[in-house]
Parts: sequence; structure tokens; C-alpha cells
Amino acid sequence: MAGYVEMFNLGKTYDTPNGPAVIVEEFNLNMAKGEYVCLLGHSGCGKSTVLTMVAGLNEITNGGVVVANHEIEGPGPDRGVVFQSPCLMPWMTAMENVMLGVNQVYRHASKNDRRDLAAYYLTLVGLGNSLNVRASDLSQGMQQRVGIARAFALKPNMLLLDEPFGMLDSLTRMELQEILLKILVRDKVTTLMITHDVDEALFMSDRVVMMTNGPRARVGKIFKMPFRRPRVRAEVLEHVAYYALREDMIRFLEEQDHKKLQEDVAKHDATKRDDSQIQVDLDAEVTELV
Ligand SMILES: Nc1ncnc2c1ncn2[C@@H]1O[C@H](COP(=O)(O)OP(=O)(O)OP(=O)(O)O)[C@@H](O)[C@H]1O
Ligand SMILES: [Mg+2]
Repeated sequence: MAGYVEMFNLGKTYDTPNGPAVIVEEFNLNMAKGEYVCLLGHSGCGKSTVLTMVAGLNEITNGGVVVANHEIEGPGPDRGVVFQSPCLMPWMTAMENVMLGVNQVYRHASKNDRRDLAAYYLTLVGLGNSLNVRASDLSQGMQQRVGIARAFALKPNMLLLDEPFGMLDSLTRMELQEILLKILVRDKVTTLMITHDVDEALFMSDRVVMMTNGPRARVGKIFKMPFRRPRVRAEVLEHVAYYALREDMIRFLEEQDHKKLQEDVAKHDATKRDDSQIQVDLDAEVTELV
């Protein structure tokens, strides 16, 4: 099935001091226009690797990514990216930080139009009264809001979010989740978001994609969310399918955990066998010497 976004046979091999490490292999996923997909998986399995490849910030080893019929080659303003910390210019105001991108992408628009656009998205994320506050004087939650406004102001076809609320307290987190959903519903931006939080994935997404444990991580299981939009938190929490879905997701993660543990133990045992063989060889040599 063709999608608005297509990740086909996506693979990443990193060069490491111990040789090439195949982290992601044959990762296949299609997304419809305006769809919201959450990517879940154990720490280190390769989620950020997938996301940064789609962003064009990380070289693709195998396969490719198509967004709106164009195979991506490097980063572009068609894909907005928000990481866990927003990486703002600390000496610039909220407005100036957003204007940095807006000025580049909307070079031909009038200065007033560009300012209006930046101010509009900053207001949507709740920073209407802090446009001229320096980034270094903003709280962590406010900085993350600037990061979100900056991504949206470029009107991307696709939004890529790597644990965007990971460092925020739970109240700010819930507030920003709702703000993000409101803008997304209005702008119909196709979104791929990484999260560690099963409840966040359930609340935000249309589908949750579970990745297998690395190395050679790929799509393990896909869950479709039955909740209607616009999402209302209480409604989602009270939905009959909520807890069954939540349990299935956690079970998947636990199974992956269990598998990884078994593999690690087997690897450890194999190393121990190698060590004992070395000991036997050493003993033989010592006996010969004596
Ligand atoms: N530049 C690199 N060179 C070598 N190995 C790398 C590089 N970047 C990531 N890796 C390795 O690839 C694996 C996947 O990393 P990645 O950051 O994609 O995981 P993740 O699923 O996003 O983890 P987390 O949930 O902790 O953010 C890890 O084992 C990591 O050590
Ligand atoms: Mg990561």
C-alpha cells in the first residue's frame, strides 16, 4: 500500500570500533496524510536512528524514505523536527528564535507577514505574552513550546518528534500534548513521534508502532487506536479498549525484554566458554613448560 510517507527497507549500519553494527534492518512503514504514528521500543533499539534518517539528518544505509512522492535526500523544510531539548539560541528572544527558520523558508514574504506567522504560532503554544523574552530566561517547558512553534511555523508536511515532552513535568506535558493535538488537527500534519510513555502513545496517536529490540531492529507489531478525534483525555481513558491495548503494548515490551535477557545470558555463557577454553590452553602450556 502506497502512503504519503513511505519508509521502505530502511536500514542503518553504524561503523564502530568493533566493526559495522547493523542497528536497524528492513524497517517498513507507510503513513497516510495527516496520520499520527507513535514509535515505541526499548531504550537503544534504534528509534532515534529511524527518526533522524527520516529527518535527513542521519545517512541512510539501506532502503529509503518517500515523503509526498519525493525520495528524501538530506534535511528539508518539508520536515519539522523537535527533539527532547529545543536547542534555542539562548541570547535571542522567543520571537527571534522562531524567525530564524521563518526568514529562511519564507524569504519572499514581507517582514510583517513573517513576524505575524511567528507570533501566531508562539501564541498558539501559549507564549503570546513572552514573545520578547530571551530564550535563556524561559523555563524548560516554555523553551519546548518555542521549539514546537518553530517547527510548526515552517508549515512542514511532516513533523518528527523525538520524545518532545520527555523532560517536562506531567502537568506541562499534558498541556503541551493537548496544544500539539489541536494544531495538528487543524494543520493536518503527518506526524511521527517517539515516546517511552505508553499512555502518551495511546492518547496522541492513530497507530502505535512497536519496534523489536536491536540489533537489527524492525517493526514488531502495530496497534490501531479506536479513539475518536478530537481526543478528550477522560473519554480515551474510559474507552472500553484502553486497558486491553495498554496491556498488549506492555506485554510486547516485556516479551522483547525477556528475549534480550536470554540473548545476553547466552552471549555471556558463550564468552565464559571461550574463557574456559583459554584457561585449558594456558594450563596445557604451563604443564608443557614444567
Ligand atoms: N553515531 C553512532 N555510532 C555508533 N552507534 C550508534 C550511533 N548512534 C547510535 N548508535 C547506537 O545505535 C543504537 C540505537 O540508538 P538510538 O539512539 O537510535 O536508540 P533509541 O531507541 O533512540 O534509544 P533511546 O530510547 O535511549 O533514545 C544504540 O545501540 C546506539 O548506541
Ligand atoms: Mg532516542
